[in-house]
Amino acid sequence: MKKKHVTVPGIRKLKGKRKIVMLTAYDAPMASILDSCDVDMILVGDSVGTAQLGYATTLPVETRDMCQYIQAVTRGANRALIIGDLPFGSYQISPDRARENAVNFIKSGANAVKIEGHHYAGLIEDLVKSGIPVMGHIGLTPQYVHAFGGYRVQGRNPDARKLLIESARILEDSGVFSMVVEGVPPGLAKEITASVSVPTIGIGAGPGCDGQVLVINDLLGLDPDFQPRFVKQYVDLHSVITDAVTRYCRDVLTEQFPGEEHSYPED
Ligand code: KIV
Repeated sequence: MKKKHVTVPGIRKLKGKRKIVMLTAYDAPMASILDSCDVDMILVGDSVGTAQLGYATTLPVETRDMCQYIQAVTRGANRALIIGDLPFGSYQISPDRARENAVNFIKSGANAVKIEGHHYAGLIEDLVKSGIPVMGHIGLTPQYVHAFGGYRVQGRNPDARKLLIESARILEDSGVFSMVVEGVPPGLAKEITASVSVPTIGIGAGPGCDGQVLVINDLLGLDPDFQPRFVKQYVDLHSVITDAVTRYCRDVLTEQFPGEEHSYPED
């Protein structure tokens, strides 16, 4: 039986009822797996830059490339709500460019877009008015890496805490349907969650948010050199793949593969 598509109002209603599950994906096969596991939301994150493209930050990710990833994820998933992450440069240059990019994300198949920080509240209001649902993102927002002086936990002193609670309220007022809260102490994440009526989705923010997101590569253990405290690695796929490829290399070199059983008959 075909499962019902997750909707923006449906996500809003989950606050206080049950935890919301979100993961990133950047291609169709992975999106299809996440969809079959009933993940509520798939974020086509600009984390594709660090997770898949080999960049040190998310900043070089191109808007036009994001449309391709969104289209691929849309082809793989038919139940989860798909969020397209507006990358650095796609909304900073001008409101017109931002609107055009958000529209292109929706045309590519995204059900909503995500914007980092609270400084674009006017733009968010505008997009929401034109029927484009927006997810906010506060705390350790990776597009601000240079301003932060690195990937540092945010909200660690009373002024910064106050500012983050204020940011969450600004985003709520601008009409976001939910917001990612990243890289903040758990007490603050809990306070933010209690102070807004929309669901908060945590990453590196402890257990007090309304939902949780991880970058899929981290959950699967694809990069042995990236094992931060906030990640729970469920499988060591780096070792699994290394073992498979090593065995393949050996089989080809020793002429164990391909064999008769992998070859087409003469007629
Ligand atoms: O790009 C991304 O994957 C994100 C999540 C880490 C929230 O923004």
